[in-house]
Amino acid sequence: MTTFESVLQEARLFAPSSAFMEQSHIQGLEHYKRLYETAKADPDTFWGELAIRELHWFQPWDRVLDWQPPFAKWFVNGKLNVSYNCLDRHLFNSRANKPALIWEGEPGDTRTYTYAELHHDVCRMANVLKDLGVKKGDRVGIYMPMIPEAAIAMLACARIGAPHTVVFGGFSAEALAGRLLDAEAKLVVTADGSWRKDVINPLKIQVDEALADGKVPSVQQVLVVRRTGQPIAMDPERDRWWHEMQPTASPQCPAEPMDSEDPLFILYTSGTTGKPKGVVHTTGGYNLYTHITTKWVFDLQEDDIFWCTADVGWITGHSYIVYGPLSNGTTTVMFEGAPRKSNPGCFWDVVERHGVTIFYTAPTAIRMFMKLGEDLPATRNLSSLRLLGSVGEPINPAAWMWYHRVIGGGRCPIVDTWWQTETGGIMITPLPGAIATKPGSATFPFPGILADVVDMQGNPVPENQGGYLVVTHPWPGMIRNVHGNPERFHRTYWDPIPPKDGHYTYFSGDGARRDEDGYFWIMGRVDDVINVAGHRLGTMEVESALVSHPAVAEAAVVGKPSDIKGEEIVAFVTLEDAYAPSEDLMKALKNHVAKEIGAIARPAEIRFSEALPKTRSGKIIRRFLRAMAAGEAITGDTSTLEDRGVLDQLRGER
Ligand code: WT7
Repeated sequence: MTTFESVLQEARLFAPSSAFMEQSHIQGLEHYKRLYETAKADPDTFWGELAIRELHWFQPWDRVLDWQPPFAKWFVNGKLNVSYNCLDRHLFNSRANKPALIWEGEPGDTRTYTYAELHHDVCRMANVLKDLGVKKGDRVGIYMPMIPEAAIAMLACARIGAPHTVVFGGFSAEALAGRLLDAEAKLVVTADGSWRKDVINPLKIQVDEALADGKVPSVQQVLVVRRTGQPIAMDPERDRWWHEMQPTASPQCPAEPMDSEDPLFILYTSGTTGKPKGVVHTTGGYNLYTHITTKWVFDLQEDDIFWCTADVGWITGHSYIVYGPLSNGTTTVMFEGAPRKSNPGCFWDVVERHGVTIFYTAPTAIRMFMKLGEDLPATRNLSSLRLLGSVGEPINPAAWMWYHRVIGGGRCPIVDTWWQTETGGIMITPLPGAIATKPGSATFPFPGILADVVDMQGNPVPENQGGYLVVTHPWPGMIRNVHGNPERFHRTYWDPIPPKDGHYTYFSGDGARRDEDGYFWIMGRVDDVINVAGHRLGTMEVESALVSHPAVAEAAVVGKPSDIKGEEIVAFVTLEDAYAPSEDLMKALKNHVAKEIGAIARPAEIRFSEALPKTRSGKIIRRFLRAMAAGEAITGDTSTLEDRGVLDQLRGER
């Protein structure tokens, strides 16, 4: 693990305006502090009261929390259904004709679903899934474009109690197969293709490739949504068209009463070692946590139009496009397109066209827009916006200030939200009507979240000193397990920091510091996870992809700072004897990684070398490679190095 250097000294402070404060859920710092202290003193009462007030339960729970570290059960024996909370209950409270989902496709086609319409289609898809043999507890893979049917499929699964595993449409057939196999999915919902920067991404072909030769024996059926319309092969035994089954499917499907701890979904994310891990989230706790964080962090009002620009293939899309907003009865926006040469201003068109009031995106996108210039947003009417959010990586103060001034017109608070796939929802964040923000700081923990910055022994570090970001008490949205691998769950999250006074500590993998005012500043990963444009990639994963190529003897992958993407991938590669370095081979290796994992994992640079720097015991010293990749001098102790000549060679000096 790396050591910390204290970053940034940012002194600007942006207090919420009194107008914003007056209409918000949590009004002013005192209100936040009171709430925080109440929750801290008695978390069970805090969460229990919220669960009664904010969700519909078919059957109440016996106990708020059963904590047998590191295994937590929330709302023990309570029964509910997330799709009921996201749909049915709004039909009785005058939201039946309110837009639930506003969708825009990349070619400019749009669709709006009211709550009644969304409910209707979710029920039909739920019945189709049942017809195709999906039962409560069966896993369903979802490999979809950003179209309404992606959300409909998720909610349909939730309705019948079949945990979904959404795989990002940008992942390769290989990556898809690995996830479906690990989750033992019974059925896959996909589409013929998706629009991505003016070209078709042929999803169905990837599914065919993933399932070829019985590679994933658990998958029995594939449900295909028509999106792009290009011809595709349909296996008459295995594949069914949604548009053929939809019209005759009944729009009535009672929501299955689920146990609060029944799994809702599995979502794969990269770690430091081995294959991506299946993060398991369950029903009651996840529903409550995404509901209440959406409501308070984004300060939801009845007429808000909420747009989170993530893909539903990531946790951000799960929690803040689908479950959080719909549970609150909010209008959520879904956009298939990406800013591209032919339409760099499309995001601002979406804001203007649909009157978006809350906009939630990633720093990498903001930095890209900065580069594209102020004209694009200036020529659109962005006056509907009232609140902005950021997620995925630390936001540099320059990007924060640009976002605030150019997109927010100087009037919109910014919520810089720190969280992870594993946390289910937002953990450290400003509450926009309560907390004065400092550009680059995620500010304070959400009420009920006991976050701290500690050393390796779990002792809090002094202010302004870097340490490990941890959570010392369970919370409803927390990861419950690594699918099929409780040992890895233990080892990854609960072993790194020893328990303090019997309290187990959740290790986030991030470094942070707290300043003299108690503000949290997230400093990025302290492990071998690379954050490329807000997406997590494990070095091991990329290395395994590289060594699966016949030319590669050994590979080590590190992150290198990048202006737009935050980090990009640099791979150090030693070749098998029969191969020699060349431009062509470099290209071939980059393509090979993209094919194995997906385009997001394509290395920005490949550097060939005759050897890699290792310790005497054979461990690659990544610290040296990181410095080398960043073009920095190698400092510190090099005495552990087995062969010092390697460094000269890597520098090109030998
Ligand atoms: C990692 C989690 C759930 C968010 C989307 C990515 C980094 C996330 C912030 C932030 C600084 C952030 C962390 C974290 N991260 N948000 N506001 N400030 N860093 O989810 O793929 O699970 O990645 O993203 O390093 O550990 P993820």
